[in-house]
Amino acid sequence: MSGKNHVWRLRERPVGNITDDTLSFESESIPEPKDGECLFRLNYLSLDPTNRIWMSDEEQYMPPVALNDPMRGVVCGTVLKSNTPEFKEGDIVSGIGTWADYQIGTPGSVGLLGAIGGISVMNAFATLALVGPSAYFCLLDIGAPKAGETVVVSTAAGAVGSIVGQIAKIKGCHVVGLTGSDEKCRWIKEDLGFDEAINYKTENIPDALARSCPNGIDIYFDSVGGSILDECLKLMNLHGRIPTCGLISQYNSPDPVPGPYNYGLILMHRLKIQGFIILDYLDRFPEANEAIVNWMSEGKIKVRLDVSDGLDSALHSVKKLYTGENTGKLMVRVKDV
Ligand SMILES: NC(=O)c1ccc[n+]([C@@H]2O[C@H](COP(=O)([O-])OP(=O)(O)OC[C@H]3O[C@@H](n4cnc5c(N)ncnc54)[C@H](OP(=O)(O)O)[C@@H]3O)[C@@H](O)[C@H]2O)c1
Repeated sequence: MSGKNHVWRLRERPVGNITDDTLSFESESIPEPKDGECLFRLNYLSLDPTNRIWMSDEEQYMPPVALNDPMRGVVCGTVLKSNTPEFKEGDIVSGIGTWADYQIGTPGSVGLLGAIGGISVMNAFATLALVGPSAYFCLLDIGAPKAGETVVVSTAAGAVGSIVGQIAKIKGCHVVGLTGSDEKCRWIKEDLGFDEAINYKTENIPDALARSCPNGIDIYFDSVGGSILDECLKLMNLHGRIPTCGLISQYNSPDPVPGPYNYGLILMHRLKIQGFIILDYLDRFPEANEAIVNWMSEGKIKVRLDVSDGLDSALHSVKKLYTGENTGKLMVRVKDV
């Protein structure tokens, strides 16, 4: 195919924050699909905290992106050419790809974007490709909430956390969210129906947690680790659960991270802490997505997207995840479908 491709390549492994030198934006030729492959054009690129993990060479759940390779990402695109019976021209696919305008997919790397049930492709991709199923399985399978229990959610105004809090409300729980601005606190309480919202950047966290959780904490949905995990450990009820979905307070740390200091309370309170990686649940996505689409159509789950336009915006935009500047699911729009 004639024309130019634009590709973000990993040039340096970040030490601390992602910088302008971490990736470079290259103009290259468009790849040709071989037998068993398709060529697709990028419509949307999901920007996710795990991008920072993939840029590093620390031990992780997938191989790190190799230096000088295209940056890996969760993508949605339109098939332009196919040499595999699994896809035909015009199909909308999503899965693991790269930060590139044109890219090669295989039946192992991408799949057809499933039943969408009245929502736009952009909303379906933003909600159903990664964050919705993560919220659903991590809360329901590991947290196992029961009506009347208290659920504390970190990164509560973010893509995963906002859905976790709403599912916990659907399950009849008392839901407390921690987030980093007054506007985000207002949004999760007034628009999403959280019972309490704590601005962890301005409030005294132990006091605010004690006030918001008069019956202790049954489930702490952890996406941050660090001092918030430590404070929640102190309030955990007997047989409480801590689904560990992420550790965003640590992803940019150049040094080993100490703690948790209240580790002994795991023993005293017989807590269950379990790590979660969404890749373990790929075969159960239809279950999560059907439930989430139904709740969305009933108005019980609301999502908000933070969209930047153009693949060239990706590097600037991804940094927002680690400062809290994003308001909702962060993504790049290259070409609407
Ligand atoms: N295990 C899995 O399979 C899986 C899948 C998806 C996501 N995750 C994890 O889920 C978490 C949320 O991901 P997401 O995609 O929904 O992103 P997100 O919440 O939409 O965006 C990240 C948010 O993290 C908060 N944050 C950044 N630095 C922080 C810090 N030092 N302390 C506390 N909060 C901080 C910021 O919100 P504030 O303004 O509130 O600070 C920021 O907006 C991440 O830890 C991610 O790795 C895990």
